[in-house]
Amino acid sequence: MTAPVVLGVESSCDETGFGIVSEGVLLGQGLASSASQHAEFGGVVPEIAARAHLEAAVPTLRIALADAGVELGDITHVAATSGPGLATAVHVGLAAAKAVAWSLDVPLYGVHHLAGHAAADTLEHGPLPDESIVLIVSGGHTSILHVRDLVRDPIEHLGDTVDDAAGEAFDKVARLVGLGYPGGPAISRGAVEGDPTAFSFPRAMLRAQDARYAFSFSGLKTSVARTVETFERRGEAVPVADVAASFEQAVVDVLVTKALRAIGDRGLSTLVIVGGVAANARLRAVAQERCDAAGIALRIPPMRLCTDNGAMIAAVGDLLVRSGASPSGLAIAADSSAVLHGAQLPLPAGFGA
Ligand code: KG4
Ligand code: ZN
Repeated sequence: MTAPVVLGVESSCDETGFGIVSEGVLLGQGLASSASQHAEFGGVVPEIAARAHLEAAVPTLRIALADAGVELGDITHVAATSGPGLATAVHVGLAAAKAVAWSLDVPLYGVHHLAGHAAADTLEHGPLPDESIVLIVSGGHTSILHVRDLVRDPIEHLGDTVDDAAGEAFDKVARLVGLGYPGGPAISRGAVEGDPTAFSFPRAMLRAQDARYAFSFSGLKTSVARTVETFERRGEAVPVADVAASFEQAVVDVLVTKALRAIGDRGLSTLVIVGGVAANARLRAVAQERCDAAGIALRIPPMRLCTDNGAMIAAVGDLLVRSGASPSGLAIAADSSAVLHGAQLPLPAGFGA
């Protein structure tokens, strides 16, 4: 059998991504973003994102094919994010994926977006170990997962956020201090010159009586808002860099502490950090320092593979194909609120039984 050449399609938020992966190797990708079109609204507008996906789909696919040096006819399988995400946005990429799969008469696989984030790391660092703890930190999710075989085994949720996701907290705090959208990169840049110990913002749910792996970021956001208000009431300039750095430090402390707690509890030795917030330099540095001190192997994808892209979806598709999974078929529907139980959507009958 010749090697599969898997096209991955991502459109769950404001990035239109196409990636091409064969046997764990990223051959090439194309990526377009409508982020600048959402800036004036302070967040992603689903209808604008959907229209932008529609306009970007064919040109971005062409870029991916050229980057990979393959023809459309070389594609042997197609994988697409079918959830979770903005329903209107997911629909467009999924429809594009169906069109390609149908016209080439090749199998289609629905992929869970968050499994894609985890698979992104395999494109840089090779196959995941038999078991690992995966910390997913994105704009919509913050979860600690016990992952075994990413595509064959059920994914165990140890904890999730009870309110805002980590990325959402970055976006909201960026708006509060006037750093604009998208907030994560803006906070990162704004924090560089700041003092992370200037303000002691709350580290929620770290006490012994709290859920061991759950997160909460809404209190932190409120605390930052109160601090900003205090400066404004006094007619003083808000020390944006110090606020940004102290906020970042509070988020990072909680994320790394809980992820390492899961590693210890489960007796594992590999921590994988993925999702848009994994692009954060402070998170990467603090996690590295604390994993080194604890003798834990840390895996984080390169920054360009942390935020949404098509390569990560192709990576899951490639793993599914090589594991012998049955295709999801052209009839699959978008599932905007899919929970991560397994990498494929919908979950195959009897999965994990
Ligand atoms: O994974 P992703 O690209 O999309 C979702 O699946 O949500 O994550 C987007 C999130 C946004 O909230 C964005 O502000 C955050 O990732 N982000 C960052 C950084 N780059 C992106 N957060 C902190 N620091 C960054 N450098
Ligand atoms: Zn994402």
